[in-house]
This record gives sequence, structure tokens and C-alpha cells, in this order.
Amino acid sequence: MQQRRLGSSNIQVSAIGLGCMGMSWAYGTPADETEAISVIHRAIELGVTLFDTADVYGPFTNETLVGKALLGKRDQVTLATKCGLIVSNFEPIEYRRDGSPAYITAACEASLKRLNVDVIDLYYLHRPDPNVPIEDSMGAMLKLLQAGKIRAIGLSECDLPTLERAIAIAPISALQSELSLWTRDAMPEILPWCSQHDVAFLPFAPLGRGFLTGKITSNDGINATDFRYNNPRFQADSIAANQRLVDHISAIAARLGATNAQIALAWVLAQGDQVIPIPGTKRLQYLEENVAASAIQLTPADLESLNELPTASGTRY
Ligand SMILES: NC(=O)c1ccc[n+]([C@@H]2O[C@H](COP(=O)([O-])OP(=O)(O)OC[C@H]3O[C@@H](n4cnc5c(N)ncnc54)[C@H](OP(=O)(O)O)[C@@H]3O)[C@@H](O)[C@H]2O)c1
Repeated sequence: MQQRRLGSSNIQVSAIGLGCMGMSWAYGTPADETEAISVIHRAIELGVTLFDTADVYGPFTNETLVGKALLGKRDQVTLATKCGLIVSNFEPIEYRRDGSPAYITAACEASLKRLNVDVIDLYYLHRPDPNVPIEDSMGAMLKLLQAGKIRAIGLSECDLPTLERAIAIAPISALQSELSLWTRDAMPEILPWCSQHDVAFLPFAPLGRGFLTGKITSNDGINATDFRYNNPRFQADSIAANQRLVDHISAIAARLGATNAQIALAWVLAQGDQVIPIPGTKRLQYLEENVAASAIQLTPADLESLNELPTASGTRY
């Protein structure tokens, strides 16, 4: 597997990581624990070294699961988790943010315990908190770095003015935000900023939460506990309108003898050496398919035609 660098931290990771969220949370029935652990172990065998979780996934159960899976394998992997996004109500699901220094410090200790590790390799503030100056949140992240509790600092879903203020306080090694063939908002400004500031860009939902793979052609199988149930892009009219994106990806995939998921990931990988996608899956078959995307090189003509895909119908949240 090709290696890429987590920005200024200089930590080397596999060019494709593994998003572990869906094993416990968000996309239908959580995985059976044994099955989820076998996916994580197989990922390590295939050369995947970057594993992504967050305290809010579950909440908390995904960190515990990842910690259990990595027992005895800790030194083979780079472990990323996040804090600052909190479930405030379950039905309907609602979130609040907390970026206060006291909260960040306590959340890090709690994640270390659940993950059963001494240090977190990459620790993200999951969302900037509008009620706490980003300087204060970054000050707390810097203290965790200096105390050796974390090895690198990340931010997630952060706009440029906030990134500029944040990087003035502490080194940012990674920015995690959505990037895929149907969410290209980060391309004009955020990606160049990351490249100029030696910040790795980690696209979440690089498969469009499963849609770009071509396996979701209606919302019939998406039940009320699934994050996608209320998501604008997974309503019937958007699914129908966005099918033209999938058709174009399918045509390239058929010509190259690849799958849609592999084309979607190859396109993300082609956006720059600092780009490290973290596709999520709880299935061995999808994992193997996704990892193999690192060997696919799209031609300039295919990349151009994918860049020209129409804007997706429906907002991403
Ligand atoms: N920072 C943030 O705010 C944020 C937000 C969302 C996600 N994330 C992180 O990013 C990771 C990836 O994003 P994501 O999981 O939301 O979206 P994603 O990677 O775009 O898509 C995951 C979905 O695609 C399906 N899938 C995966 N590989 C497939 C394949 N080869 N063929 C067909 N279907 C396939 C999965 O199915 P199965 O579930 O059946 O395996 C799952 O439903 C998450 O796991 C999480 O760690 C971060």
C-alpha cells in the first residue's frame, strides 16, 4: 500500500485508512463485534495503518470496539479519534458542541481509557464550538500534545478563517472534512490551503455514504435509525436525480474492470499527495475492494470527466 504523510506530524500512514464509525453507528444495524474486529484485523493484514473513530460514535461504543480490536497490535497502527461533538438527544437525534478546554482535556482522558492506550496518534476537535474561541480550544489541544497524551492535532469541518486562527496557536497536522465525487466544496480553497500549510486532508464519506458505489438505488431499505433516513441526498427525488453521477462512474468502472467504489476512491486519491481518504465499512468484501483502489490510476481524461460531473441534488446535511 502506498504511504502518505499526516502533514507536519511526519507520521506516515497508508494512503487509504479505515473509517470505523459504521461498525457501531449511523448506517443501519451495527456490526456484530466479532465481524467488526475481523474487518479491522484484515485491514491491518492488507497494509491499512490509519484507523478512524470518535467518542460520539455509539456514543462511546465504537472507541471501545476499536480499542479491543487493536489489543496487541497498537504499534502497527495510527489511531485517530475525536472530541467535541456530543449527542444531546437520541430520538430525534440532536447534537451539541463543546470546545472548552476543560471538556477537551476530560474527553481525551476518557478516550484514552476506552481505547485502552497511553497516547492517541491523531486527536481531532470534531467541530469548532461557536461559543468557545477556537484559540481556547487549540490551546487545550496544544497542552495535550505537549503532555504526550496525543501525537498530532486535527480539526474537522472547519472553514478557512477558523483554520487560520487555529494554526496560529498550534500545529494542525490534519483536517477531516467531506470530499467525494458528489461533495467537491473543499476543492477550490480548503485543499490548496492544506497543501500550502502542510496539513493532510482526510476526506470522510469518500463513497458518498455508500451512494456512489451504485448499491443504493432507492431509500426503501434505509430505516429510521439510519443517519441517511432524513438526509436530503437520500430522499427519493435526490436519489433519482443523482443517479446520473453514478451512471458516469459506472461507465468508467466497467471500462477499467473496477468497481464504482474503487473509481470514487481513486478520484479522491488523485486530488493530491496530502489527501488520505478513510472509507467506512463493516464488511470484509467491501474492505478488500476499497483497499485495492490504491492501485488504480485514472487517466487525465477520466479525471477531467469526473471533475465535470454535475453538482449533486440535495444538500449534504
Ligand atoms: N469528521 C466527521 O464529521 C465525519 C463524518 C462522517 C464520517 N466520518 C468518518 O469517515 C468515515 C467514512 O465515512 P462514512 O462511513 O460516513 O461514509 P463512506 O465511507 O462514504 O460510506 C460508507 C458506506 O458505504 C458502504 N460501503 C463501503 N464500501 C463499499 C463498497 N466497496 N461497496 C458498496 N458499499 C460500500 C458502507 O456499507 P457497510 O456499512 O454495509 O459496510 C457504508 O454504508 C467514517 O467511518 C468515520 O470514521 C467522519
